[in-house]
Amino acid sequence: MKNVIAIDGPGGAGKSTIAKLLAKKINYLHLDTGAMYRAVTWAALKKNIDFKDEEKIIKIAEKSKIIFDQQGNIFLNGKNISQEIRNNKVNQYVSQVAAIKGVRDLLVEKQQDIAKKNKVVMDGRDITTVVLPKAEYKFYLTASLAERAKRRYQQEKVKNKNADLKQIKASIARRDKLDKEREHSPLKKAEDARLIDTTNLSIEQVMSKMIEIIEGEI
Ligand code: CDP
Ligand code: CDP
Repeated sequence: MKNVIAIDGPGGAGKSTIAKLLAKKINYLHLDTGAMYRAVTWAALKKNIDFKDEEKIIKIAEKSKIIFDQQGNIFLNGKNISQEIRNNKVNQYVSQVAAIKGVRDLLVEKQQDIAKKNKVVMDGRDITTVVLPKAEYKFYLTASLAERAKRRYQQEKVKNKNADLKQIKASIARRDKLDKEREHSPLKKAEDARLIDTTNLSIEQVMSKMIEIIEGEI
């Protein structure tokens, strides 16, 4: 599939940062699919839904009109929720919501439709394996748990001076496990995806590795 770059990997690997920069550089659209699962989770929290009630959560996903603007802000039914979707409550429940097949089916359809209509860099957990397995370029970014937790901690510290590295590490590890062990579309490396371990690499170094692979062909 021409004009499509797919990136998967665990939280804190650098996917959305890199995908955003890469998209800007080559003039593609960036689609952060994690933000879509977060938006549905935020809407369910807002309605005080019991997270075991899968039917209700699917209904919420059906009613969720999710739109991104040029800057990557996300709007749910007209409301800009770009900040809210990064809160701790959403972190806590998003992997549960993302494990529901009915929710995934709805969001995957939207993602595939966007890829049909645009040149796109898309990042998430199942982009290289399920959403766009025929993408022209496929990458799996990862980094050690300690490094990913450190990166998240540094981001968090800016907003909250009580941010706790240990807690952040535990929360990432829990989400890794849920995402890798779920029945539908678990996080795994596609056989033909390029693996990049970013543990000891700067953003610029990761970018140049990816550009090197793509270079000359776009
Ligand atoms: O920001 P971070 O990398 O920690 O997570 P995210 O990309 O915002 O994704 C949040 C959660 O959404 C993940 O932990 C997965 O449970 C789910 N997700 C998914 O199941 N499939 C995707 N394509 C993207 C995200
Ligand atoms: O999307 P994902 O959860 O994979 O990671 P991210 O939100 O793009 O990146 C998490 C943080 O790690 C950001 O603050 C990045 O600036 C930082 N970082 C990185 O992404 N890649 C590196 N090689 C080094 C740092």
